[in-house]
Amino acid sequence: MDLAEYAEWRQTVMDLVESGGLVMLMGAPDTGKTTLTTLLLLQALQTGARTILIDADVGQSEMGPPSTVSLGLLSEPFEGIASIRPAAAAFVGATSPAFRTIEHLVAVHQMACHARQQKPQLIVVDTSGLVLGTVGLRLKRAKIDLLQPDQLIILQRSGECEPIMVGRQYASLPVTHRLPVPACIKTKSNGLRASRRAMRFAHYFREAEMRTVELNRVDILGSWLGRGRPAPPAALTQISRALRITVEYAEIIGQRLGLLLRTREMANAEKEGKLIDRNGAMIIHPPLKDELMQQCGLEIFRITPVGRLQHALVGLLDREGSFLGLGLIESLDFRARRAGIFTPVKGIGAVCSMQIGAHRIRPDGVEIGLIERNEL
Ligand SMILES: Nc1ncnc2c1ncn2[C@@H]1O[C@H](COP(=O)(O)OP(=O)(O)OP(=O)(O)O)[C@@H](O)[C@H]1O
Ligand SMILES: [Mg+2]
Repeated sequence: MDLAEYAEWRQTVMDLVESGGLVMLMGAPDTGKTTLTTLLLLQALQTGARTILIDADVGQSEMGPPSTVSLGLLSEPFEGIASIRPAAAAFVGATSPAFRTIEHLVAVHQMACHARQQKPQLIVVDTSGLVLGTVGLRLKRAKIDLLQPDQLIILQRSGECEPIMVGRQYASLPVTHRLPVPACIKTKSNGLRASRRAMRFAHYFREAEMRTVELNRVDILGSWLGRGRPAPPAALTQISRALRITVEYAEIIGQRLGLLLRTREMANAEKEGKLIDRNGAMIIHPPLKDELMQQCGLEIFRITPVGRLQHALVGLLDREGSFLGLGLIESLDFRARRAGIFTPVKGIGAVCSMQIGAHRIRPDGVEIGLIERNEL
């Protein structure tokens, strides 16, 4: 890749590397954000500027695996961003910021703090193409407010990022550079995007193995699981009897209950009218609910079929909350307090918490479903 090929960008790239600071790129999908990021890094290498890349694109990430925000220190010539080894990463758990917006912003913030602590001359933040609609607008405004970039590059074809910039025209920072999209920049179909993501996940899990996580020593985050205390066997029998459904596992959270049911059992209960699907979340038929309240004094807060957690993407974190790696839940046995996690993380003993993400992913990298918030 040669800067001379991109005449429209050439001068800005040279000026940006010269000025340094935190540079954030923003643009719709396929506007050349990653290409321009690569050109900035190559130019920085040539001038010897100490540079850190933050890859904040959780869907089409190049440096770390999808669903993470990663940070890499540029120290030697590289064969494309994908060949840079991340020095740190933060788990988001979704391949679109729209599904886990808060987690995404937290991850970006963590990586930016980490980068700034190292006092490089240049920090380049490549972002996702989510700029349109209310979600895109709020996300990108929040990201600019959070990162407080020194320089902002807007890549756009016909002013599509301008709504994000409303109210900033008199602000002195960030210094904003509006650049056109060169004709050579190609678009990627949604199918190609999905298969690229699957390849990146598959590559990440290529040396993964099944490893056991002891649930007595590991917190589960992002779910009702682990938020309360496990219902003792006698209570489990009482709850099962009141509902006339075999409950695999239950937790008592204050006066409320989270239930884990076997998937087939749950389908049968739905057929029999004991459970009702309310906008993707299962609720209990009112007479049974009242019976449970009378007998146990408890109200159901959430019902999760155990099968929904099969292949769930998880982030494995250590005691300091630092990201150790990704995993896929392959088995969950709450009675034995054990989970089988498919992960390349070798020191599984260091895992202190396991954050459940928004996707179910097969070990070959293919996304097989979304886990909605109201399912967990
Ligand atoms: N000189 C070139 N010749 C041909 N294709 C190019 C050239 N420069 C960039 N591309 C291609 O254009 C496509 C879009 O560019 P790029 O990936 O940089 O955009 P992006 O805004 O980062 O996209 P995304 O929204 O997916 O992150 C890529 O497939 C890239 O390889
Ligand atoms: Mg990109």
